[in-house]
Amino acid sequence: MSGDFLALAQPGVQQLSPYVPGKPVDELARELEIDPATIVKLASNENPMGAGPKALEAIRNELAELTRYPDGNGFALKSLLAERCGVQLDQVTLGNGSNDILELVARAYLAPGLNAVFSEHAFAVYPIVTQAVGAQARVVPAKDWGHDLPAMLEAIDSDTRVVFIANPNNPTGTWFGVDALNEFLQDVPERVLVVLDEAYIEYAEGGELPDGLEFLSAYPNLLVSRTFSKAYGLAALRVGYGLSTTVVADVLNRVRQPFNVNSLALAAACAALQDADYLAESRRLNEAGMQQLLDGFRELGLGWIPSRGNFIAVDLGQVAAPVYQGLLREGVIVRPVANYGMPNHLRITIGLPAENTRLLEALAKVLACG
Ligand SMILES: Cc1ncc(COP(=O)(O)O)c(C=O)c1O
Repeated sequence: MSGDFLALAQPGVQQLSPYVPGKPVDELARELEIDPATIVKLASNENPMGAGPKALEAIRNELAELTRYPDGNGFALKSLLAERCGVQLDQVTLGNGSNDILELVARAYLAPGLNAVFSEHAFAVYPIVTQAVGAQARVVPAKDWGHDLPAMLEAIDSDTRVVFIANPNNPTGTWFGVDALNEFLQDVPERVLVVLDEAYIEYAEGGELPDGLEFLSAYPNLLVSRTFSKAYGLAALRVGYGLSTTVVADVLNRVRQPFNVNSLALAAACAALQDADYLAESRRLNEAGMQQLLDGFRELGLGWIPSRGNFIAVDLGQVAAPVYQGLLREGVIVRPVANYGMPNHLRITIGLPAENTRLLEALAKVLACG
C-alpha cells in the first residue's frame, strides 16, 4: 500500500511553490549550444565584479583547514560585525545566507495557528519559511509597488508573531524612509517580531533609507537581517547575519544547525568586511550601471519602477514573457517576475558596463523583432 506523500505533507507545504532561482548560465549554454563565457546573466542580483581579492585570499588560506569543522560560534566574524554594527557579540546571529536567518525566525516564532504579515510583491522566501512551519501568510496589497506600512499594521492580529519588511524590497526595488519606519515600529505591538530585511542596504546607505541598526536599541522587537551575497560579492558562499536583542539571538541560536556557516564563508566574510575599497567600488559601479540602464530604457520608451537596489524592474507590458525568451536567445538571462504578481515586468540586475550594453542592445533587438 503506497501513501500519497503530497497529501500527507502538512497543508502549508502542499500549497507552496518551490523557489524559482535565476536560470543558470551553464543551463542556457547547454540549451543554445554556445560557450558559457558569451552569456550575460543579470538574473540573481549578484555582484558583477566577482569576489574581492581579499576575500579570495582568505579563502585560499583557509583551504588547509577543510578537514575541520568550522567555528560553530563564528567568533571572529561575529566580533567584527558587533564592532562594525555597534552591538554586543551575542546580539549577532550568523546564517547560511540571510535566508537562513529568515528561516530561523520562522522556526522559532511561527507555528500552525499563528501568522506572519508581509507585502504583496515581497521576497519569495517569506511565504516559503512561513508556510513551511504551518503558519499562515497574511499578504497585504502593495501600494505603488512598495510596502503599504499602515495597511500592514492593520493586518496584524492577535495571532501575528512576525512581520517581514524589506528595505529596499526585492523584486520591486521600492523603499521607505526613516519617518515611515519610525511610525511603523512605534505602532507594531511589542510581541510581534519585525524582521527588517536589509539585503541590499549597502547600495542605498546614507540616502533616504533608514539604517535599521539605529532602531535596534529603541525596539527590542526588531531584527535586522543583512547579507554578504550582494554588495560584498559572496553569494555562492552563503553567509548572512541577523542583529537583534540578545534574547532573540539566543532563541535563534537554539534552532540553528550547529555549523550553519562554513569555514570558507566565515573567513571570506571577515576579509570582505574589512575591504572598504571593494564595497565602495561595488556601490559606484552599481550607481553608474543603474544610470546606464535607465538611460537605455528611456531611449527604448520603457517604464520602470524606481529602485534603490542593484536591480531594476522594467515594464514591458504584455510582451514581458516573450521578451524574456527573446533575451535568452540573445544569450542574456534576466528574471521574469510573474510569480511575484508582476507579469508585465522583468527584473534586471545591474551588471558591468559591457554587460549592461549587451542587455540594452539585445532588448532593442528583441523589441524591434516583436
Ligand atoms: C530581499 C532579500 N532578502 C534576502 C535575500 C537572501 O539572500 P542570501 O540568502 O543570499 O543572503 C535576498 C536574495 O535575493 C533578497 O533579495
